[in-house]
Amino acid sequence: MSILKNILISSTIMLVYNSYGYANDFDQNSITNEAKTISKIFMKTLKSELKQAMVTGGPLNAIEVCNTKAIPITEEVARNYNVKLRRVSLKNRNPDNTPTLWQKAVLENFDNRTKKGENIKTMHFSEIVEYNGKKQFRFMKAIPTGDGCLVCHGANIAPIVQEKLAKLYPEDKATGYKKGQVRGAIVITKGLTTN
Ligand code: HEC
Repeated sequence: MSILKNILISSTIMLVYNSYGYANDFDQNSITNEAKTISKIFMKTLKSELKQAMVTGGPLNAIEVCNTKAIPITEEVARNYNVKLRRVSLKNRNPDNTPTLWQKAVLENFDNRTKKGENIKTMHFSEIVEYNGKKQFRFMKAIPTGDGCLVCHGANIAPIVQEKLAKLYPEDKATGYKKGQVRGAIVITKGLTTN
């Protein structure tokens, strides 16, 4: 009898705990705000790394730094915040940054919104979907092309830079950009099932 009572009590506690966890995790506004903060920190880290590399060794050195550090930095930020994190683009340089189907659709949507005059700096997407039988949070934040990006992503790339890029990225599609276009996006995903 007392065992049954214990089971009943503990399962009631677990139910309450789970539904509480659920409510927290499924608060789309707060989880979206958290994703925005992670995106900001991530972009700041990447940009300062890039800037430092440009100052100390010019674009050839900076390409090297992007090549060896972009992915490890991404993985470190993801670990710190317990999310999945990546950068994707419709015209990606690194084949690892190819968007999935839903990511491609969002990137196309970002391009259309940009053409209609929406500000890229605040452009984002967020939803909660059922994925493999579990709830999944999906977030994307548009990355604008600024002046400084054109050295390696623009239409008139210096021949020595082109040469280095071609060597490291034979399938490079990330050139020909103009200032004010969407260069790509940050993707954050997180599984929401608590038990
Ligand atoms: C010095 C050259 C250089 C500059 C300047 C540069 N990038 Fe890149 N970018 C790269 C390289 C190299 C990669 C591939 C990194 C990798 O292997 O993961 C890359 C990859 C990216 C990606 C990931 C998607 C893809 O194409 O693979 C994004 C997004 C991106 N850059 C945005 C920017 C933005 C925005 C700026 C300006 C703020 C910028 N880059 C400036 C060299 C550069």
